[in-house]
Amino acid sequence: MKNKYGQLSTLVYETDKPVGVSFGDVAYYLERLRDVNGPILEPGVGNGRFLVPLLQANKTVVGYDASAHMLEVARSTLQQHQLTAELVQSDFASYQSAPRFDAIVIPAGTFQLIDSFETACTVLGNFYQQLNVGGRLMLDLDAAQAIFTSQPSMRKWQVGGGSIVTLSSTPLNVDYANQVSTELHRYELWENGQLQRTELEEFVLRWWSPSEISMALQLAGFTNVVVSGGYEYGRAPQSSDELISVEGTKN
Ligand SMILES: C[S@@+](CC[C@H](N)C(=O)[O-])C[C@H]1O[C@@H](n2cnc3c(N)ncnc32)[C@H](O)[C@@H]1O
Repeated sequence: MKNKYGQLSTLVYETDKPVGVSFGDVAYYLERLRDVNGPILEPGVGNGRFLVPLLQANKTVVGYDASAHMLEVARSTLQQHQLTAELVQSDFASYQSAPRFDAIVIPAGTFQLIDSFETACTVLGNFYQQLNVGGRLMLDLDAAQAIFTSQPSMRKWQVGGGSIVTLSSTPLNVDYANQVSTELHRYELWENGQLQRTELEEFVLRWWSPSEISMALQLAGFTNVVVSGGYEYGRAPQSSDELISVEGTKN
C-alpha cells in the first residue's frame, strides 16, 4: 500500500513531529478557525499534532486516518492530554458523512498524498458534501519544486533506550504528465547495533499549481476561493514560497 504510515513510519512521525511542533500552520489555522463553533473535520488526522491544539482551543473535532498505527498514537496522546475527539479509521475516498461540519482542515501537505487528480476531485466533492452551508475547506500544499526535485537522503532518530530508526529515501520516479513523484522509503529499527525490523513504503505525492487547486475547488462547488502563500492569508503565492494554502466556502 502507498503512503501507508506503518509502525516505523508512525514512530518516526511521532518522534519528529509530536504535539507542539508547528510549521507555522498551527497558529495560522487556529486564527482562520477562530470564529468556528460547530464541528470541524480533520482528514488524515495522524498522531494528533494538530488535533490537540484544536481541542485545546475548545473546538469539537472529528478526525479520520487510514493508518491504524497513527490513530493508536492519536488516541494515547488524547488520553495523556485528557482530551476527547471522535477518531475513525478511513481512507480519504471512503469517508462518508451527512453535512455536519463547519470547517474541514487538512494541514501538513496531507492532501498531496492523494496521487490521482480524479480521486482528489472526488474527495473535494465529498468535502463539499460534508460541510454545512457557510462551512469552509482549508488545506495546504508544499510547493511543486520541493516535490519533484527530491534527492536521495538518509536520516536517523533516537527512539528511546539504545534504539534508533533510520530512514533512507530514494527517488524512484517523477511522472510530469500526472504531477506525481514516487520515493521508496526504507525504515530500519536498530537496537544495540542489531537490525530488528525493516519497513518499506512507497511514498507518493502529487503536486498542484496554485491556479489548478483553485479551479479544482471551484469545480467541486466552492466559492470565495483564496490561494495564499506562506501562511499569509490573501497574499498571492510567489515562486519562493515553500507552501501554499487554499480556502473555499460552501454557499
Ligand atoms: C503528513 S501526516 C499529517 C498528520 C497530521 N494531520 C498533522 O498535521 O501532523 C499525513 C496523514 O495522512 C494519513 N493518510 C495517508 N494516506 C491517507 C488516505 N488515503 N486516507 C486517509 N488518511 C491518509 C497518514 O496515515 C498520516 O497520518
